[in-house]
Amino acid sequence: MKTRITNLFNIKHPIIQGGMHYVGFAELASAVSNAGGLGIITGLTQKTPQDLAKEIVRCQKMTDNPFGVNLTFLPTVSSPDYPGYINAIIDTGVKIVETAGRNPQEYLPGLKDAGVKIIHKCTSVRHALKAENIGCDAVSVDGFECGGHPGEDDIPNMILLPRAADELKIPFVASGGMADARSLVAALSLGADGINMGTRFIATQEAPVHENVKLAILSAKEIDTRLVMRSLKNTERVLNNSAVEQLLAKEAVLGKNLKFEDIIDVVAGVYPKVMMEGKTDSGVWSCGMVAGLIHDIPTCLDLIERIMSEAESLIRGRLADMLK
Ligand SMILES: Cc1cc2nc3c(=O)[nH]c(=O)nc-3n(C[C@H](O)[C@H](O)[C@H](O)COP(=O)(O)O)c2cc1C
Repeated sequence: MKTRITNLFNIKHPIIQGGMHYVGFAELASAVSNAGGLGIITGLTQKTPQDLAKEIVRCQKMTDNPFGVNLTFLPTVSSPDYPGYINAIIDTGVKIVETAGRNPQEYLPGLKDAGVKIIHKCTSVRHALKAENIGCDAVSVDGFECGGHPGEDDIPNMILLPRAADELKIPFVASGGMADARSLVAALSLGADGINMGTRFIATQEAPVHENVKLAILSAKEIDTRLVMRSLKNTERVLNNSAVEQLLAKEAVLGKNLKFEDIIDVVAGVYPKVMMEGKTDSGVWSCGMVAGLIHDIPTCLDLIERIMSEAESLIRGRLADMLK
């Protein structure tokens, strides 16, 4: 399948693995890229720019195909050395960056001068248009269903994607709720040039996370995620667990008076405990509603090939048959 996204990133299939904290290591990024998709290393999971450079080199040894690095500009407890991370990306020759969160404008000239293509992840049409205006090459449009930060507009992809298609000139991928061939074909129909998947890629053989995390996703249904930190305007969709229930109870009591410090113990420093040690109840961690569509733990190659072959059957079979 050829789309504007496969052309832009020089990849075989229009499937991107979104950056994921403590999941997007070289093992997963290289597996996705080797399968013909676009793997992404999560920049800020690496504690320093030097560590990121090492992770990129590790990934380069595992794949000859293009892969990218995610740089997330979210309110974080510490203030990361973004210029340092960008130098690590440029110096190691990575040519694709997925930005997310705050406007990446101040970092674009340096990246563009180095020939890096930028795909910005955003949750609204106005932010997608802004990304286009400041010179991003593509956008990843993240609907309300998505795992992680869906923003504050609460627009699901059934509306958001065609709205983006109506307004944008640059290519875009559908993100949030994407799991299988049906998602891909629907996203293409709604005007996207491919899909970005987060949660689905955690439940793969190569995702270097604890088995408990994969099993938690397999057991979850589409009704098992919750939105936390709404009153802080830092909404995150997470898998429900006992820590999340306690956090929501606290949010209900404190209401608009809630401060980040009140909840820091269940939202900061949680990812290593969950992803590495498998303590899935130790705090809040992102997960999409799409968990309800995930029932197995395939290799990235099997997953991507299955999506592509079933998408072809869907288009040539079910959809074409309807026109006969
Ligand atoms: C565990 C987890 C961690 C994530 N961490 C990040 C991150 O650090 N930066 C980022 O831009 N997006 C992050 N995301 C969002 C994904 O890149 C992607 O946009 C999202 O998962 C898409 O929705 P889906 O889970 O329904 O596929 C994360 C998602 C998950 C599930």
